[in-house]
Amino acid sequence: MQQLLVTGGAGFIGSNFVHYVMANADARVIVLDKLTYAGSRESLAGLPADRVELVVGDVANAALVDDLVGRLSGPADAVVHYAAESHNDNSLNDPSPFVQTNIIGTFTLLEAVRRHDVRLHHISTDEVYGDLELDDPQRFTEATAYRPSSPYSASKAGADHLVRAWVRSFGVRATLSNCSNNYGPWQHIEKFIPRQITNLLQGGRAKLYGTGDNVRDWIHADDHSSAVWTILSRGEIGETYLIGADGEKSNREVVSLILESLDLDVDDFDHVNDRAGHDLRYAIDSSKLRDELGWTPEYADFSEGLRRTVDWYREHQDWWAPTKTDVENRYAAGGQ
Ligand code: NAD
Ligand code: DAU
Repeated sequence: MQQLLVTGGAGFIGSNFVHYVMANADARVIVLDKLTYAGSRESLAGLPADRVELVVGDVANAALVDDLVGRLSGPADAVVHYAAESHNDNSLNDPSPFVQTNIIGTFTLLEAVRRHDVRLHHISTDEVYGDLELDDPQRFTEATAYRPSSPYSASKAGADHLVRAWVRSFGVRATLSNCSNNYGPWQHIEKFIPRQITNLLQGGRAKLYGTGDNVRDWIHADDHSSAVWTILSRGEIGETYLIGADGEKSNREVVSLILESLDLDVDDFDHVNDRAGHDLRYAIDSSKLRDELGWTPEYADFSEGLRRTVDWYREHQDWWAPTKTDVENRYAAGGQ
């Protein structure tokens, strides 16, 4: 049976991928996750114990990573690397864990897959390309130059460069993908969409950074997982694939849709302090993935996917409510 090592598999997108693999493939998964504030065992609940093993540990722990990668020996076995510090606002408050996990962690994994000659798929972000003007007719492609703005995106860019260097210099068998903004169940409530939903469910107001005109290109996490599986199955070694679902929306539009789906007044939001260095717009051209590997997203209607996400947070208050006060206190301490 195919074996996968999924780093960060107890986080928002990594756990979605583990569920995807369990439902769609004949594979076993070892999850390596440090269970930081962003990881949760609950996101993996209900999966078959004989096919999913959770190892709690650090991707920058060379001995542990070497041991886990060494367990992969079949022709289709692979490491899928999601583990990261992932929130821009946190990277502005304290960049150090971003450098440690995103850069040193990726380096540690690269050395292990090099030693054991194991295939790697590296998960990255469209933020490595910086931002676009609102009226720029070009979207990001695989040929766009790197121009990261934040400590988070710079650390992800550094990790991407390491992966490409290990492919070229050491013949490591790796593919890379850079995806746009994900939404869906199990996303930590510090992030934009779940923060607004949970504020409103608790009788508070939505919080828009700056003018609210910034644009993000939304994709459902299920579609991210199917794209990663496609690349893992049919992608060409050494290649990078951009993942996106043509989901551009301004933050203000997203807040309006959330307010609408909760039957609240369209004005139930506040403008709050803007993020330092706030990227204006991301937009992905995913033609290469669609044309060369035949991938298409399933969630064509963002408002419908968002409505289902609102319902999910309404039904899972036991998961997020215990951390809500702490998250909002952190934002308040930052001036919001
Ligand atoms: P997340 O913050 O929800 O989850 C990250 C997971 O990694 C958590 O389970 C955490 O415990 C684990 N982790 C953190 N540090 C670790 C360490 N040192 N060792 C082992 N595990 C560690 O993040 P996410 O939104 O699910 O993002 C996952 C990956 O996808 C990241 O690489 C991120 O850069 C990338 N990505 C995210 C998005 C998005 O919109 N969220 C878009 C494109 C790419
Ligand atoms: O583009 C992919 C990236 O998307 C991933 O690499 C990151 O891991 C992920 O966190 C996300 O980064 P963003 O910075 O775009 O996501 P965030 O949810 O933090 O913010 C989305 C937008 O909403 C951004 O323009 C900032 C704004 N925002 C955010 C918060 C938390 C608000 O207006 N209000 C808020 O309360």
